[in-house]
Amino acid sequence: MNKVIVSLLLTLGLSGLAHAAGDAEAGQAKVVVCGACHSADGNSAAPNFPKLAGQGERYLLKQLQDIKSGARPIVEMTGLLDNLSEQDMADISAYFASQQMSVGAADPKLIERGEALFRGGKLAEGMPACIGCHSPNGAGLAAAGYPKLGGQHATYLAKQLTDFREGNRTNDGDSMIMRAIAAKLSNKDIEAVSSFVQGLH
Ligand code: HEC
Ligand code: HEC
Repeated sequence: MNKVIVSLLLTLGLSGLAHAAGDAEAGQAKVVVCGACHSADGNSAAPNFPKLAGQGERYLLKQLQDIKSGARPIVEMTGLLDNLSEQDMADISAYFASQQMSVGAADPKLIERGEALFRGGKLAEGMPACIGCHSPNGAGLAAAGYPKLGGQHATYLAKQLTDFREGNRTNDGDSMIMRAIAAKLSNKDIEAVSSFVQGLH
């Protein structure tokens, strides 16, 4: 086959995947069961349930695919996604992405250490700053699938960083970027950066 056709086919295939267009309005009707933990608008009340409101659509869809396939095991969500199609999950992702994430507050005692890590990383140990991917205001980079962190519950964030570090969350791809970063974070670092990020907007 000629090269042009191959690359054309690849482009079509890839963009088809990237734009599994979600319909936010259709999604709203499909999230009733999710509201029990994540709240109807995606701003969960309990700090161990992540806020989904305003999270990037691409990131949300990837997490749903990973949770459904078991690549990211979440006991609380066992079976919940089994009957959802790819279109359902795209619609749900579009719905939560269209909501506004509520803002939290940082513990004033942890701001200095947390901010230094978030903005500066640990260069001596080769750990990049978080802002490189999650952006200076914590908004993430939706198009690249880099999640929004600013305003997210500190309790949830700290659990994710610990899970990445301990190898209990492994769906960060072949680059293992978050596992490599979390490996350089102490418990105190995790507590500080999570608190700082909860107050970031
Ligand atoms: C019984 C509670 C519960 C219900 C119901 C529930 N979830 Fe979750 N969900 C959780 C918990 C707990 C986590 C985080 C687990 C962890 O610590 O990694 C989570 C994580 C997620 C994440 C990953 C968020 C992120 O920032 O990475 C997404 C997306 C998600 N849920 C979507 C949904 C959707 C969509 C539904 C409804 C179909 C749903 N959940 C129903 C408890 C629930
Ligand atoms: C080179 C890019 C990059 C850098 C630098 C980076 N991250 Fe991430 N981070 C990612 C990607 C990509 C994901 C999503 C992985 C996936 O798809 O599950 C992620 C996921 C996360 C999550 C999980 C979010 C959720 O809702 O579950 C947290 C928490 C997080 N990063 C915190 C940090 C912190 C804190 C730093 C700095 C110490 C940092 N990241 C630096 C790319 C990066």
